[in-house]
Amino acid sequence: MRALREEERVATGATLRPARRSSGAPELAVIVPTYQERANVLELASRLTAALEGIAFEVVVVDDDSPDGTADLVRELALHDPRFRCLQRIGRRGLASACVEGMLATAAPYLAVIDADLQHDERLLAPMLEVLRGGRADVVVASRYLDGPEVPGWAEDRRLASRFATRLVGGLPRLRGLSDPLSGFFMLRREAFEATVRDLSAIGFKLLLDILLSAPEPLRVVELPYRFRERREGRSKLDARVVVEFVTLLLDKLVGAWVPARFLMFAAVGGLGVLVHLATLAFVHRWGGAEFLPAQALATMVAMTFNFALNNELTYGDRRLRGAAWLRGWASFALACSVGTIANVGVATVLFVRETSWLLAAVAGILVGAVWNYTVTGFYTWGSRSRG
Ligand code: GDD
Ligand code: MN
Repeated sequence: MRALREEERVATGATLRPARRSSGAPELAVIVPTYQERANVLELASRLTAALEGIAFEVVVVDDDSPDGTADLVRELALHDPRFRCLQRIGRRGLASACVEGMLATAAPYLAVIDADLQHDERLLAPMLEVLRGGRADVVVASRYLDGPEVPGWAEDRRLASRFATRLVGGLPRLRGLSDPLSGFFMLRREAFEATVRDLSAIGFKLLLDILLSAPEPLRVVELPYRFRERREGRSKLDARVVVEFVTLLLDKLVGAWVPARFLMFAAVGGLGVLVHLATLAFVHRWGGAEFLPAQALATMVAMTFNFALNNELTYGDRRLRGAAWLRGWASFALACSVGTIANVGVATVLFVRETSWLLAAVAGILVGAVWNYTVTGFYTWGSRSRG
């Protein structure tokens, strides 16, 4: 945070008690990401209020426009208790980015994240705050695994996947010794957040991991144990896409400084698209007996639609297009990629006639085409230009 200028101090009343909060201001902000949690919100609110008795807190619920009207219910609650607020995002999805925006929307010196579905034990918040107040740590993690590896009610596959992912990242120097670096329940000092926020990838579910890996200096972490509870209402949003996002986050932390992880994802989807194209062509032309030209045209359409759909789910899962926007997106994607193909062939041809090897010329063409497609569709198909 930048220091205040003198006139700003006077204006904010900070002159008399520098760096002190006014009596009503929250010390702790609890950020609650929600998607389709209407059935849990009121119970969560009453549990938080009970667990945070005596603490100046506020709750920022960040809802991604849940169709069940979670945001409306939170606003209703806020009319009765102004410590509750709702930040509603439209046309966006993502647990980590929701939490980041919630943190940016509060001035509290301590920031916590807790799920809305009552799986995280809210009674741990007060002891977590106590640790931070004591100055022993920058981050306190509520760990599912500190008291042993068992999480009740988890199917075997979820258990194995969680253990595998935890092991996978456990070897990273900054995470060594942590039992649960993938926890979604943690608290940190505002300074630690502010020092890191511009370097976060904010992709997917694992914000804590993102923060620990992005911090300019290693953060001091303390873990406290709790029992991860079973979800009572609603459904988990952890699906295959979240797994892909986890891999993207790791990639972004590894190579993101040089190549955007989204581009790698886009390129991987493009690679699959080539296989789809060839398979369609083989099917229709080779075995189906269709003429080459119409078969090739059909294969191009199929592959392009496949690429668009997959990019829409994975590469741009956080800005997914639906309904009419999906069709418009498809059209702009097709248009952009046609121009990309012309650029690809053009560059390759120019290089080839200048006696570059055919392989090098082809690769250069493909790269130019891919970068073109990525940049243009990122802007027109999934960018701000695609809505409004
Ligand atoms: N705003 C927003 N946007 N919230 C979301 C989104 C989203 O796209 N997706 C999920 N949420 C909210 C859910 O409504 C819930 O409050 C919370 O994020 C966690 O989602 P779940 O779908 O219940 O995830 P989980 O229980 O499988 O996993 C959670 O707990 C684990 C243990 O702490 C996640 O927080 C994991 O990251 C974590 O490891
Ligand atoms: Mn959950």
